[in-house]
Amino acid sequence: MIRLENIQKTYRIGRERKVHALGGVSVSIAAGEFVSVVGPSGSGKSTFLAMAGLLDRPTEGAVFFGEKEVTGVSDKERTRIRAQRCGFIFQFPSLIPTLNALENVLLPKTVHRTYQESDAAWGRETLKRVGLADKLENLPYQLSGGEQRRVALARALVNKPDVILADEPTGAVDAYNASLITELFKDWNRQGKTIIMVTHDERLASEAGRTIQLENGYLVGEKSCPS
Ligand SMILES: Nc1ncnc2c1ncn2[C@@H]1O[C@H](COP(=O)(O)OP(=O)(O)O)[C@@H](O)[C@H]1O
Ligand SMILES: [Mg+2]
Repeated sequence: MIRLENIQKTYRIGRERKVHALGGVSVSIAAGEFVSVVGPSGSGKSTFLAMAGLLDRPTEGAVFFGEKEVTGVSDKERTRIRAQRCGFIFQFPSLIPTLNALENVLLPKTVHRTYQESDAAWGRETLKRVGLADKLENLPYQLSGGEQRRVALARALVNKPDVILADEPTGAVDAYNASLITELFKDWNRQGKTIIMVTHDERLASEAGRTIQLENGYLVGEKSCPS
């Protein structure tokens, strides 16, 4: 599904300084896998996710998405692939404060101008599945942190992606929300979605079929946990 070959990513800071976020990472992720990515802060986890989700280009190396090499494709094509196939959950829910829960969930549709009447029913159903049936019209400030997270989870599903990429989906949420979110990821994986998830949460990491460990921009360990 996604293959990274010897990926290096160097960020330039001003003219002089460079940060080597990834030093040469090769990972292959099959369709339907649930992979967790762990490692200390600054080890390159978010950068890894950005490479796998075509949010950014590597400095060196090749990226394959669904057997097709996408390293050199245009920004427009990368955006199209992301919009059609990837669902993202970032470290912060980043909801639009003036849109209610349902409108936030449907935003990717509106942005890409693919919104149809039937999407609203789907959005309601998805919010119901994440336990927010009675909060459809709440604005973000009327939702708790955990509830905002769950809106972002529902939003990631709106384009029916086959890959879900998540960065610390249970960061800064209470135990109740963390276990709810964990169950949702397991459920999506059972439904066949490929999941790549950065996490500090050991319980959540242990739910994945495979754990990739990064340190200093290098892959230092890999562990399979057959379920
Ligand atoms: N856009 C950027 N510009 C400059 N440096 C960056 C940028 N993004 C990440 N870095 C640096 O790259 C390294 C890896 O970052 P990151 O992938 O965010 O690690 P993690 O998610 O594991 O904490 C860190 O040293 C970070 O400061
Ligand atoms: Mg990070």
